[in-house]
Amino acid sequence: TAAQQFRIAAIPADGVGTEVVAAGRAVLDAIQASSGGRIAFDWEELPWGSAYYAEHGVLMPDDGLDVLRGKDAIYFGAVGWPTVPDHVSLWGLRLKICQGFDQWANIRPVTFLPGITSPLRKADDTDLDWVVVRENSEGEYAGFGGRNFGARGEKGEVAVQSSVFTEVGCERIIRFAFDLARTRARKKVSSVTKSNAQQYGMVLWDDMFRRVAADYPDVETESVLVDAMSAKFVLHPEDLSVVVASNLNADILSDLGSALAGSLGLAASANLNPDRRYPSMFEPVHGSAPDIAGQGVCNPIGAIGSAALMLDHLGLPDEAKRVQAAIEATTAQGVRTRDVGGTADTETVTRAIIANLG
Ligand code: NAI
Ligand code: MG
Repeated sequence: TAAQQFRIAAIPADGVGTEVVAAGRAVLDAIQASSGGRIAFDWEELPWGSAYYAEHGVLMPDDGLDVLRGKDAIYFGAVGWPTVPDHVSLWGLRLKICQGFDQWANIRPVTFLPGITSPLRKADDTDLDWVVVRENSEGEYAGFGGRNFGARGEKGEVAVQSSVFTEVGCERIIRFAFDLARTRARKKVSSVTKSNAQQYGMVLWDDMFRRVAADYPDVETESVLVDAMSAKFVLHPEDLSVVVASNLNADILSDLGSALAGSLGLAASANLNPDRRYPSMFEPVHGSAPDIAGQGVCNPIGAIGSAALMLDHLGLPDEAKRVQAAIEATTAQGVRTRDVGGTADTETVTRAIIANLG
């Protein structure tokens, strides 16, 4: 069969982002090498991020989105470094790409791996897994607002940060969650809001959830307030399958989920443009981890799991399953980085995963 060629942009950016993207690329190189010429990844690595900012005053060039537009996928590390204010680095690169390419669905699986002890009551229950579906285009991260309203004199500054909820935005992410639930063993969608306190946007979300649910009578549903859902993550994770929430709420819940699974370093994510009009972006959930960057000890599993999500999106589900199975075989063998109680470095874990690809 003819080789399938995939054009992929790598944006390692900052801190451990560079280390985990290198690890993920090594795994994808091994997938390519073992495909017998069937699969080829054509990489372009882009030097964007906080170091680029120090030199050019921007996180990525003005035509950055045009550079990415023709790619089949974007493989991202993490952006943010103490030399640049966090809101500047986040908005200047990651959010620019997510919003510029209408990557409106952010998928964050919470996976419990064998050999890794969860701080959760149901400690080593690797049967547990759920997916956080995060609205990724509007909500609390719409970027609406301003500072310095109303010149109220000294210490009088007022800032406004508004959320935006649209019927179209709510409906498409909720429908996505229901379609995803239909592919899972447990057909259930939990919708998360704070509609008792935020009575406009989140009540619109609740209304849309009820309307969309009517089209999926085969899928179980519940609506839970975000504070109660955070308790449920800890106390009744067996009740979860697909959890759909707004931008901010899902961001917080997915960090909680990955901590319950054992470490932030394990969590994978996909920023999807489900309409496939633009490239989607795959990245670990964690940030640049300045506290451990440059030491070669960070956990590469979040990034390698994100590479598996990318393979799935590229239409290579068997290769995606091979990578996920290799991750599980590696943790089961006890090859683990420090954050999950091991002593192995990033390279050792990466090499073990490659060896376990079989
Ligand atoms: P962080 O995720 O970088 O680190 C939080 C904690 O988790 C640290 O103790 C870190 O050592 C640990 N950790 C993270 N990734 C790990 C890995 N792969 N292996 C082992 N341990 C790991 O979050 P933090 O400290 O709040 O943010 C640091 C910088 O990253 C900031 O500039 C922030 O804005 C940025 N950030 C970027 C994100 C992105 O690009 N998607 C997401 C979150 C934060
Ligand atoms: Mg986060």
